[in-house]
Amino acid sequence: MDASTSRKRSKWDVDDPEDEKPATPEPQPKRRVLKAARSADSEPSPVPRPAHSYYVPPRTSHPPIVPSRSVYCYERLNQIEEGSYGVVFRARDKHTGDIVALKKLKLDEEKHGFPITALREVSALMACHHENVVRVREVVVGDTLTQVFVVMDFIEHDLKSLLTLMPAPFLQSEIKTLMMQLLSAVAHCHDNWILHRDLKTSNLLMNNRGTIKVADFGLARRYGDPVGVGGLTQLVVTLWYRAPEILLGATTYSTAVDMWSVGCIFAELLLKEPLFQAKNELEMLSMIFKLLGPPTTNTWPGYFSLPLAKTIALPSPQPHQYRQKFPYLSTSGLDLLMALLTYDPEQRITAEDALQHPYFTESPLPKHPDLFGSFPSAAAGEKYVCSLGAVESAVLSTMLCY
Ligand SMILES: Nc1ncnc2c1ncn2[C@@H]1O[C@H](COP(=O)(O)OP(=O)(O)OP(=O)(O)O)[C@@H](O)[C@H]1O
Ligand SMILES: [Mg+2]
Repeated sequence: MDASTSRKRSKWDVDDPEDEKPATPEPQPKRRVLKAARSADSEPSPVPRPAHSYYVPPRTSHPPIVPSRSVYCYERLNQIEEGSYGVVFRARDKHTGDIVALKKLKLDEEKHGFPITALREVSALMACHHENVVRVREVVVGDTLTQVFVVMDFIEHDLKSLLTLMPAPFLQSEIKTLMMQLLSAVAHCHDNWILHRDLKTSNLLMNNRGTIKVADFGLARRYGDPVGVGGLTQLVVTLWYRAPEILLGATTYSTAVDMWSVGCIFAELLLKEPLFQAKNELEMLSMIFKLLGPPTTNTWPGYFSLPLAKTIALPSPQPHQYRQKFPYLSTSGLDLLMALLTYDPEQRITAEDALQHPYFTESPLPKHPDLFGSFPSAAAGEKYVCSLGAVESAVLSTMLCY
């Protein structure tokens, strides 16, 4: 393909909403052609031939290899969001009428082939099939080599936008349901050897039936894989959700980094705003030291062996400030929060254990997802009309809870 073709524009380019005809015809399925070719050369043979080579095992446990469908199988509706790794559109499947989300991967500036982040994203999403992980339907391609789209179920909200738009914070019973869903998705990923490495409220989608779906596996990686000479990259996890061991330069880290992020998300659901809103790594560390009290050899035996520990001047010892920051949280809720936001990654609670925490069995019990109020979806272009709908649903959900 020459350079002019690869730069050709189409309606799936970000700033071109016009509904143009596809420049090239939709690729037709090639299977029938192959079948015809095979039947032409299939003379009756006296010895029955095996269906596959003697040396290659049959492809029983693998899906058949079929070419990706074209993006023109979908009608573009609106752009939802542009993130660092791609643009997300809402679209309609022309065949089934299903509303889906299409994430267009950013490949324009890629000089070294298909980006590893995109490969990791698709393979991690496929490996982590779960009720609380966003479902990938397929990968489709456009006219040019830079047009690759991941097709997912469309989910009405992301938790970050929802928390900003909601008039009142979630109720305790709702927070318990959301946390249990998040923990069960994270436990499932960790069971399948996947670290998400970018858990934050904007990567948690929520539908109007009270169900959370973990999304954006752009930074995910398998943690059983051998680690290269430089160790794991430290440029992971959005700053506000980044675990202290990464902030202090650890090159080997594990599932505990996701659990720290889960702790930050729990706090954000309670406060209705992010817990640590720091501008840089140093400010982030000092905010953590303030809430948890500075680390000691007791609370974090491995602290002084971390690469950046010697460059940080620790504040004088002081008690933690959890109770002041979360005055209305029950004792067991506070215990779970502290277990998640624990300095020592070895002692930080796992997703599996967190699911068994007494916080989830004390009153008020987790609310059934069906009883969650629904909200207008900003991603679908719905508006909060005088925020009447939002107030109504907040009042309704309060009434349903008690
Ligand atoms: N399946 C989906 N349904 C509805 N909205 C979605 C879906 N997937 C993503 N979005 C929206 O698009 C936003 C960006 O998606 P995503 O996080 O996957 O992209 P990204 O480029 O990795 O973003 P960032 O770098 O900002 O994290 C999400 O925060 C959400 O608002
Ligand atoms: Mg994201």
